[in-house]
Amino acid sequence: FGALQACIPELFAQKMSGDAVRVWVMACATGEEAYSIAMLMSEHLRTTRGTTAVQIFASDLDEEAIRTAREGLYPFAIEADVSPERLRHFFHREAGGYRVKRALREMVLFAAHDGLRDPPFSRIDLASCRNLLIYLSREAQLRVLETLHFSMRPTGRLFLGASETVDERSLLFSAVDKKHRLYVPRPGPSASGTDKRYEAPQVVGTRRTSLPAAGTALARLQLDLPSAQSAGAGAGGLSWAEMHLRAIDRLAPPSVLLDAQRGMLHVSSAASRYLHFSGGEPTRNLLHAVLPEIKAALQSALFHAAEQHQIVHTQPLQVLVGAQQEAVVLTVQPLDEPEGGFLVVFRAADAPLGLPGLALPATEDSPLVRQLEREGTRLKSVLRETVEQYETTVEELKASNEELQAINEELHSATEELETGREELQSINEEHITVNQELKVKVDDLGQSNSDMQNLMDATAIPTVFLDRDFRLTRFTPSTVGLFQLIASDTGRPLTDLTTPLQYPQLVDDARGVLYTLQPSEREVGDSRGNWYLARVRPYRTLEDRIAGVVLSFVDITERKRAQESLRQTQER
Ligand SMILES: C[S@@+](CC[C@H](N)C(=O)[O-])C[C@H]1O[C@@H](n2cnc3c(N)ncnc32)[C@H](O)[C@@H]1O
Repeated sequence: FGALQACIPELFAQKMSGDAVRVWVMACATGEEAYSIAMLMSEHLRTTRGTTAVQIFASDLDEEAIRTAREGLYPFAIEADVSPERLRHFFHREAGGYRVKRALREMVLFAAHDGLRDPPFSRIDLASCRNLLIYLSREAQLRVLETLHFSMRPTGRLFLGASETVDERSLLFSAVDKKHRLYVPRPGPSASGTDKRYEAPQVVGTRRTSLPAAGTALARLQLDLPSAQSAGAGAGGLSWAEMHLRAIDRLAPPSVLLDAQRGMLHVSSAASRYLHFSGGEPTRNLLHAVLPEIKAALQSALFHAAEQHQIVHTQPLQVLVGAQQEAVVLTVQPLDEPEGGFLVVFRAADAPLGLPGLALPATEDSPLVRQLEREGTRLKSVLRETVEQYETTVEELKASNEELQAINEELHSATEELETGREELQSINEEHITVNQELKVKVDDLGQSNSDMQNLMDATAIPTVFLDRDFRLTRFTPSTVGLFQLIASDTGRPLTDLTTPLQYPQLVDDARGVLYTLQPSEREVGDSRGNWYLARVRPYRTLEDRIAGVVLSFVDITERKRAQESLRQTQER
């Protein structure tokens, strides 16, 4: 369908104002394909703001399938194939599934139609025939393709199913996009859409045997076919059927063939005497064209023939034809055709009636009034139904509106919540930035303090040892190395494990005493090399005034000790 979508703008581009894009979906089954194409067309019109009319004819042999297609109700499972946006736009959700909305439904005209036998639609811009050819014999395939070819405008496009192709040697179609099975009709003697390929006698010979003449004319007029010209054509290019018709026309009473809407499809040559056309827009409606004396009776006869589906005769009517007064009886025969329609015959009042039928009373009995009353009643009920439908639509619209308002409200409050959340986040963010800056200042200070302390420790010549509350080594100055033979990895070792030349057996006790009493202690201690130190033990206070261990320092007092000794010796001498 992507390839199909791509060729849609081209179909519309060719249209002049007032032209419609005509589509035929042959073998439409239950309508999915037809509605899909309708959605694509509708979307194109929406995006281009186009106003070109679109008429989609969708046909299938299976009447049951056509009924389902007309219903336009599909199971919830279509959610897997139809986007939520399209579901929203083109379908109503109901208890039983998704129903096609009226606007889309009205784009498609479904009809029971045999692609192999029935006359084709005409002037088609896009024909879609998917997954029918694969089920048909080669001969039947060719027949379908011929029918489609005949129906299409020369610029039309044919869309086939993924596993179907048109024979490469075909004279009917050439590929536009072979991969996506898009074809264009080939021009030629049988490819213009206005030539005489379609043989109306086929129609006559199949479903329309009961009314050959009417069927032929009906098919020709309604389907926009040219005059029939079969292989068995008679002299002067006319078919035998047409010659037969002409011959009968001279002998038979004047008659007019009407479609179901009372539009004239065919008028026998003698019938024109009962018609008159005044100025203005030409009309096809027989009731507008017939002589005024006949009109009321004809209207009544048509009404009864349609209602009771039987032949109806009027009472003799006095009609002024030219300068002559004539007594005429009208016979209205409903056609036995799916499309409906009537044959109206004008007979002299004294001529035999032919087929029996319902004889209408004279118009003085006011059947017209009764008929008008019934017509009025019918119209009232149609109006009532329309009003009910309108009210239902208004109700639905109101409900949708309410839902929309509710959604709008929810959106509004969600937006407000989001806005509040955003403001909170912003203020938290600002706090974070401030804290971060403070932290950065502190980290910088700490870095500075750390490097000051490191330099101080490196610069001091006083061996100093920091112990935690378990008397494990936490830090020491470089000058301690000589006193305790420490290396960097000794951090964490207990004080008692350290070997030292100091003769200071009370060291651990002093440290413990300071930790408990928080009173600093000092003691002069010597080592095995004859050096003396003033050993100081002080509690280690954190900035939060917590005691985290003790600090030992050893001030070298060897010189002082030696001076004291020599003084003592001098005094003794
Ligand atoms: C497989 S379905 C294809 C439905 C649809 N085109 C699709 O692709 O989904 C084939 C359809 O072709 C219809 N069909 C078979 N013979 C036909 C004929 N001679 N004329 C019209 N329709 C026919 C069947 O009734 C059936 O619905």
